[in-house]
Amino acid sequence: MDTIKVLVVDDEIGIRLSIARILKKMVIASPEEGREVHFEVEQAETGEQALQLIRESPPEILLLDNKLPGISGFEVLAEVATMNLGINTVMITAYASIENAIHAARQGAYDMLPKPFTPVELRRMLEKVTNHVITARRARELAAEKKRVRFQFISVLAHELQVPINAIENYLRVMRDRTLGDDMKSYDAYLERCLIRSEYMRKMISDLLDLTRIESGERARTLEKCNLTEATRLAMDALAAEAAQRNIKMTLDTRRISMYADHTEIEIILNNLISNAIKYNRDAGKVKIALFKSGDEIKIQVSDTGIGMSAEDCARIFDDFVRIKNTRTTKILGSGLGLSTVKKIALLYHGSVSVESIPDEGTTFTVILKDQGADNDISS
Ligand SMILES: Nc1ncnc2c1ncn2[C@@H]1O[C@H](COP(=O)(O)OP(=O)(O)O)[C@@H](O)[C@H]1O
Ligand SMILES: [Mg+2]
Repeated sequence: MDTIKVLVVDDEIGIRLSIARILKKMVIASPEEGREVHFEVEQAETGEQALQLIRESPPEILLLDNKLPGISGFEVLAEVATMNLGINTVMITAYASIENAIHAARQGAYDMLPKPFTPVELRRMLEKVTNHVITARRARELAAEKKRVRFQFISVLAHELQVPINAIENYLRVMRDRTLGDDMKSYDAYLERCLIRSEYMRKMISDLLDLTRIESGERARTLEKCNLTEATRLAMDALAAEAAQRNIKMTLDTRRISMYADHTEIEIILNNLISNAIKYNRDAGKVKIALFKSGDEIKIQVSDTGIGMSAEDCARIFDDFVRIKNTRTTKILGSGLGLSTVKKIALLYHGSVSVESIPDEGTTFTVILKDQGADNDISS
């Protein structure tokens, strides 16, 4: 249920009371399905009194008679416009001339209700303005939520970037102050740690750029025929050295599959899933990549024999900046943005991403995408 506050301004007590009585009983169907709108009514006898009530606690709808004993309804309307409170004013007037209507609209009135009016006419007018109020309310709520999410994102990002900078500064101070003596060799380990931290920052920034490009929708997408098998081989090649270092074996199981897609987006998906499967694997572990196509549905599956995750962790990892912190992951660096980017891309393809995992045994990620050119091309 939504409640809208209405202020009725009329010097004739009979009219005021009857409008108030009708409004208090009135229930209007909200533009949002299954919801109702009720009204909370306040009354004022003069323009001066109305302005005072508006300043104290503004209504969302103002039913305003033009002919009042002191300042006129139009003067109240002009004053209300300067307050910028988003009040929707319906002018009630006995002289509903075109000039009056134009004047009211220029002053920011929402609409006009000619006097005398029937309860049905009042109801129709309220239905119209209520729709407007509720739609505007939801737009405001959505904007506030967006602002909150953006603010939270920036706070976390700032924190995540500060951590490596703090570490680098500490290592540099140790070197500057010659804490370990004058022999440059003593500082080799510190230099190495500085480099690891700055490499991590570089990766973080590159993940961030991927994410914001996808999310902003500003990156021009080029949907063209992509050889998915080839793209997967290239992604594996790019990560082969990292895998070899830890004696991890990668295999690809597929026939030749192609699809209409944006090449860069497919690269980001493959790169994130395969690099995770290596990073979170055990030494001498395995990574198995499999591709499937059935109709216009493409499935990319990446399985590993790594550290795995609890069901609770699995539910969180697709959110921005989420990294699972435990003794097995402390030494592994990352931004926590990779999987959230994968998920956003999958949604662009009307697809999904899911995960199955057993702690200490391994994890399988499955990405499903819809071929973006299936209508033009039914061969695979
Ligand atoms: N294959 C995997 N096995 C185990 N845990 C994983 C795997 N892939 C991702 N995770 C967990 O999910 C988290 C989020 O992954 P991701 O968004 O790629 O960020 P990053 O790898 O930069 O930390 C990781 O920090 C890790 O804890
Ligand atoms: Mg990752």
